[in-house]
Amino acid sequence: MAAEDGRDVIDEVLKDHDEIKTLFAEVESGTGDEKREHFEALVRKLAVHETAEQEIVHPLLRQADNGNVRDERLSEEKEAERELTELQRMGPEDPSFEMRLKKLQADVLEHAAAEESDEHPRIRASVDAERLRKLAVAFRAAEAAAPTRPHPNSPTSAIGNVAVGPIVAVMDRARDGIRSVMRKLSDGPTGEDGAADTDDGMHRVECSVVVEAPLRATYNQWTQFEDFPRFMEGVESVIQLDDRTVHWVAEVAGVRKEWDSEITLQTPDEEINWLGFGDSDNRGRIVFERTGDGTKVTMMLDYEPQGALEQIGDKLGLVRRRAEGDMKRFKEFLESRGRETGGWRGDIGGDEGPDYESLPPS
Ligand SMILES: [Fe+2]
Ligand SMILES: [Fe+2]
Repeated sequence: MAAEDGRDVIDEVLKDHDEIKTLFAEVESGTGDEKREHFEALVRKLAVHETAEQEIVHPLLRQADNGNVRDERLSEEKEAERELTELQRMGPEDPSFEMRLKKLQADVLEHAAAEESDEHPRIRASVDAERLRKLAVAFRAAEAAAPTRPHPNSPTSAIGNVAVGPIVAVMDRARDGIRSVMRKLSDGPTGEDGAADTDDGMHRVECSVVVEAPLRATYNQWTQFEDFPRFMEGVESVIQLDDRTVHWVAEVAGVRKEWDSEITLQTPDEEINWLGFGDSDNRGRIVFERTGDGTKVTMMLDYEPQGALEQIGDKLGLVRRRAEGDMKRFKEFLESRGRETGGWRGDIGGDEGPDYESLPPS
C-alpha cells in the first residue's frame, strides 16, 4: 500500500488519469440511475484529483527547474471545474448533457496528456525520488478524506439523491486531508502512527448518541445486523451466519474488506460485545442505557489501522467521524421509522436460549 509499494506521486497521478478515462466511458454508456451514479463518481474523482494536483504537483513544478505551472493548465482546470458544476446542476436528463459531457471529456483528456508529456518529465528530472514516493501518501490522503456520497437508503438523503454534494465541498475536504498529511510529512518520518489507545496496541474510538426511542426498541433495532447497510457508511452487506456470527463486507479507507465478527456477549437491553477477524481486526462493545424517554447508545470500537492509507485515515480522524456518522444515522433511522424493523432477544454468554421478538411487518 501507498509508500510501501514503491509508487510515487506521479504514478498516482497516472493511475487517476486512467480511472478518469474509465469513468467518462462509464457515464457515456450508462443509462438512468446508473448513469447518474457514474457521473457522481466522476465529479468526485475529478474534484479530488485536481485538488491533489494543485496542492502537491503544482508546488513541485514551481521548484523543478524554477519552472512554473503553465497558465493554460491552470485555466483548463478552472474551466473544467466550472463545467462540471454546471453539468451537475443540469443532471444527465438535460438534452444538452451528452454533448457537453463529450466536450468536457475531450478537454480533460487533452489536459491530462499535456500534464503527462510536459509536467511529469520536468518533475521526475529534478525532484528527489524518495520525496516523490513520500508525496504519494499525501496524494492518496485526498481520496481518503473526500466525502463519499450519502448512502441511498440513508434517511437523511432524499429518494434518488445520490449527489456527492457541491464540488467545492469535495475539494475542501480533499485539501484538508492533504494538508494534514503534509504537516506530518514535514515534522517527522512518514508512516509514523499516532500512539495506540489500548494496552495491546489497538486504537480506540468511543462515541454515543441519545435515541428518542424506548430502550427495548433501540436495543431490538441494533440486533437487526442485516439492516446495518441502511445506515452505516461504506457497509455493503452484513449477513447473519448464525446467532453468534456475522459476515461483513465493507469499504474501509477506499479498500474493500471482508471479515466475520463473533458475538462474545449479548444481554438484551444492556450490551453486545464482539470480536472481528479477517481483513479488519477489531473488537467492540455497545452499551444501551435508559435516559428519560430515550436511550443512550455508546459504542466503543478498538481497531488496528492496516497499511499506510488506513493509518492516514486514522490520523485524520476518519474512523471516529465514520463511527459518529453511523450512530447519528442509526438514531435518525429508528426515529424516522418510529419503530424497530425486528428484534432478537437471545442471550449470548448467559444461560437463556434465544427468543425471537415477533413484530408486525413494516
Ligand atoms: Fe490537472
Ligand atoms: Fe491530472
